[in-house]
Amino acid sequence: MSDTLDRAPKLASRVTDAGPRPKPGILDIAPYVGGKAKAEGFAHPLKLSSNENILGCSPQARAAYTEAADKLNIYPDGRSDGLRAAIAQRFALEPERLIFGCGSDEIFTLLAQVYCEPGDNVVQGQYGFLAYRIAGRAAQAEVRFAPEPQLKLDVDEVLRRVDDRTRVVFVANPANPTGTWNTRAEIARLHRSLPPGVILCLDGAYAEFVEAPDWCDGLGMARGARNIIATRTFSKAYGLAGLRVGWGYAPAAVIDALDRIRAPFNVNLPAQHAALAALDDDAFLDRSRALVAEERPRLASALERLGLAVTPSQANFVLARFPPEPGRTAAAAEAALAAQGVLVRGLKGYGIGDGLRITIGLAEHNTQVIDILTALLAATGRAA
Ligand SMILES: Cc1ncc(COP(=O)(O)O)c(C=O)c1O
Repeated sequence: MSDTLDRAPKLASRVTDAGPRPKPGILDIAPYVGGKAKAEGFAHPLKLSSNENILGCSPQARAAYTEAADKLNIYPDGRSDGLRAAIAQRFALEPERLIFGCGSDEIFTLLAQVYCEPGDNVVQGQYGFLAYRIAGRAAQAEVRFAPEPQLKLDVDEVLRRVDDRTRVVFVANPANPTGTWNTRAEIARLHRSLPPGVILCLDGAYAEFVEAPDWCDGLGMARGARNIIATRTFSKAYGLAGLRVGWGYAPAAVIDALDRIRAPFNVNLPAQHAALAALDDDAFLDRSRALVAEERPRLASALERLGLAVTPSQANFVLARFPPEPGRTAAAAEAALAAQGVLVRGLKGYGIGDGLRITIGLAEHNTQVIDILTALLAATGRAA
């Protein structure tokens, strides 16, 4: 009773004649804008704008998805138990330490909702994935950005922003949109230096594409830690972005808290079945990895030969930076590619206005990108 009375004046202050008003901060959030999907004049543009899998998905996953059409009248398993057991076995993890999400995006949101209240903060890299800041702000936390002077997460800059109100540190490794990665030593130092009450979220959305031997596999580090959650997704290497399946591995106490506010059936039934089948199709995963391993360095060196700065990447995309000269800018290049039906990701929203993020395509797609940019830069080059 007294609780109701105490809260009544505050509630009243948010009621206006203009109708319902979102809680403070919500209308300051810039909504997430995905990579472009349409190019004028092209019914089927080549989409290299969202780091999707150019090979499609596993034929077994596709069959499982189709088969699930007979079960659309029933709710999915609310705990994704089939998938849980398979992931636990594949990665040698404890099943009760897993959580499944409608994409790993949902897990970032749950983390912020569970651990942050107004006055708290979350820390991420300057160019960190956009979903983190949305999750933090939606939970009314301050989002602190650690400068990335080398376009790479800098552990000291992160630590400088951590204080006693920090609740979550978000690290994508490899990072999007830069493709850069942090070593085991760097992440171990970050973890060691964080207060034990801060959750370190190690987002491995691009883990399967990594070849660098010094890269930190978040799962290994999460195994023995009390405050690490490592996340993975079926959206990239497994080619199931349209189904929205992600998962996280964390201490049981963290999983227990996240599970309490998770939507009851957050991973839909066809998605669970397809993900389970995808996990079993090593041949498809190998093809996805092999394509990126082959084409990533080829695309990167061809772009470098055009005089562009290309950031070393361990993900299924590369970041190329363009000069400020008229006709040769990132915007001009994005437009030239779109004019030929090729969509890439401009990075103004990430604060890298001179950059384009280009998802690795098939060999012929990457060659097409190289040819279009070669023509653009030759046509606009200063006469010798
Ligand atoms: C770094 C990073 N984390 C997470 C995601 C989202 O993954 P999901 O599709 O599982 O929500 C993306 C998608 O682009 C990403 O780049």
